[in-house]
Amino acid sequence: ETLEWDADAAGKGGYDHYMLKEIHEQPRALRQAISGRVDELATSVDLDIDLPEEYLQSVEEIQIIACGTSYHAGLYAAELLEAHAEVRTSVHVASEYEFNGGRDPWRTLVIAITQSGETADTLSALRTATRAGARTLALTNTLGSTVTREADDTVFIRAGPEIGVAATKTFVSQVATATLFSVYLAQVRNGISTKTATRLLESVRDLPGAVQQILDQEDIIKETAREYADSDAFFYIGRAVGYPVALESALKLKEISYDHAEGFPAGELKHGPLALVTSETPVIALLTDETRPKKTLNNVKEVKSRGAPVIGIASDPETTGHVDTTFDIPDCGAMEPVVGNVALQLFAYYVADEKGRPIDKPRNLAKSVTVE
Ligand code: G6P
Repeated sequence: ETLEWDADAAGKGGYDHYMLKEIHEQPRALRQAISGRVDELATSVDLDIDLPEEYLQSVEEIQIIACGTSYHAGLYAAELLEAHAEVRTSVHVASEYEFNGGRDPWRTLVIAITQSGETADTLSALRTATRAGARTLALTNTLGSTVTREADDTVFIRAGPEIGVAATKTFVSQVATATLFSVYLAQVRNGISTKTATRLLESVRDLPGAVQQILDQEDIIKETAREYADSDAFFYIGRAVGYPVALESALKLKEISYDHAEGFPAGELKHGPLALVTSETPVIALLTDETRPKKTLNNVKEVKSRGAPVIGIASDPETTGHVDTTFDIPDCGAMEPVVGNVALQLFAYYVADEKGRPIDKPRNLAKSVTVE
């Protein structure tokens, strides 16, 4: 008798899909991203940045270039950079950068966010920025990747290998690492009080535990996903740092379930998308800290009055009465929306699983796209 050994099943470590395994690896991935980078009192950050401090103090603008999920991490990072490092920050889909970026390289820092470090659109935008004379920083998961050789400096997100085409742990690790960078830059530029820096650094340090609390709610999320799996379309709404998470959570669902899913700024619903809202279109609302939950509740009322079922992603129990189902998010300040994203990764996973989709290899998509 021979013992069957299936490398693929072994790689999945007992989970049905790499995606589910990687969702569960997030507390560990986050601990790795943070390890040795935040001091014990959560007052300072060390990211081993080589770009000189005098240069970082002189930067007048940051341009972020990225694609797909990394673009959403860029939108999240931009909110924090603008708020804390007090530097004008624009975020560009990399394939559009040659038309709308790279014009004013002086005192501009260009940050390329790319999990693989090999995305052709991102590398091409990086070359445009370099040719224009900008200094460049890469945020990536992959040691020795092309982006690390071409950018002036690199910060690794240390998420470990990600096999599932749908990015999960690399998104949260990108956001956590970008948050550390925002605090670092803000401190170099004297733009942040120690109190605010500590609040942000503690929220990053709380992330692994907060994400674990979401994983512990997996059964409730699974049940809700099964309940809504037959819906016509899904709309995700959020404000501020909730908006990139709305986009990212919708992207996850459309990639792996093939259902129609869109993310909108909550306030923008009434300017068009509301026409699509019916009792068959669940609306998922980001109502966590730092996403203006009170304002978004007005939008929740608008969709409820059209019969749409609402799932709230919330940390404040006061919102529970306004929605049909709540995914509870533990308190962790500016990081709450990204914790909410983990709940919505599971939601997307179980909708796709209910439909029997090939979750790790969705049709027409590739893990790393090396053509423009
Ligand atoms: C592909 C993947 C996405 C990913 C995007 C950017 O489209 O399917 O999951 O977000 O590339 O990848 P990168 O490696 O640059 O982060």
